Amino acid sequence: MTAGATKSPTQAELKRLVGEAAIAYVEAGSIVGVGTGSTVNCFIDALGGIRERVAAAVSSSEASTARLQALGIRVLAASEVDRLGVYIDGADEIDHAGCMIKGGGGALTREKIVADLADRFVCIADESKLVDRLGRFPLPVEVIPMALAQVSRRFAARGATPRLREGFVSDNGGAIIDVHGLVIDDPAALESEIDQWAGVVCCGIFARHRASVCLLGTPGGVRTLQF
Ligand code: 5RP
Repeated sequence: MTAGATKSPTQAELKRLVGEAAIAYVEAGSIVGVGTGSTVNCFIDALGGIRERVAAAVSSSEASTARLQALGIRVLAASEVDRLGVYIDGADEIDHAGCMIKGGGGALTREKIVADLADRFVCIADESKLVDRLGRFPLPVEVIPMALAQVSRRFAARGATPRLREGFVSDNGGAIIDVHGLVIDDPAALESEIDQWAGVVCCGIFARHRASVCLLGTPGGVRTLQF
């Protein structure tokens, strides 16, 4: 490196940046919806620093629940709340309309359930996640094990390649297929279609539950995208 040159932040540093920035979206005394993943872990750690201002959290995974509880944050079941003001979660890809692919960590079903309770979805992501078109990241789909073969055949018939996530069982006891090479022209239409296939628990397209805001970590700081 030449003298005086500044080092680019790492992806981990960008995740921490947006995880901390998301604290601004947590209203004092509120119950906050919390997603899953390494970016959300940064948010949870920051939430620990203001735990006395947080009434409770609703979590989208056993992993996030354990991390929240270790920091002294009370975790409620989704069935114990009517609405959440905000749900904060990461994404594997996000497009310029706020539609996302999620589920890289396998928590997509509970993520969609908690997102459905929230008035606003705040997506936190490093800039590598922003795409012009969804689909380079393989689409995670949670499937009842009995239906794995027939759901896989449906994807293959579309010219995509479904791969079973070997050795993985979701918090709900489901299997995950990662679908490579899927053409996603209309995220909302494809989400609705796949979610109706027999044996599909949930697909990782979040178009009906798209982000309202995205805090994108860039070397120049946090870029806020409003949708
Ligand atoms: C987990 C998810 C995550 O939000 C997504 O995979 C992004 O993870 P990370 O913040 O670790 O990059 O959908 O199911």
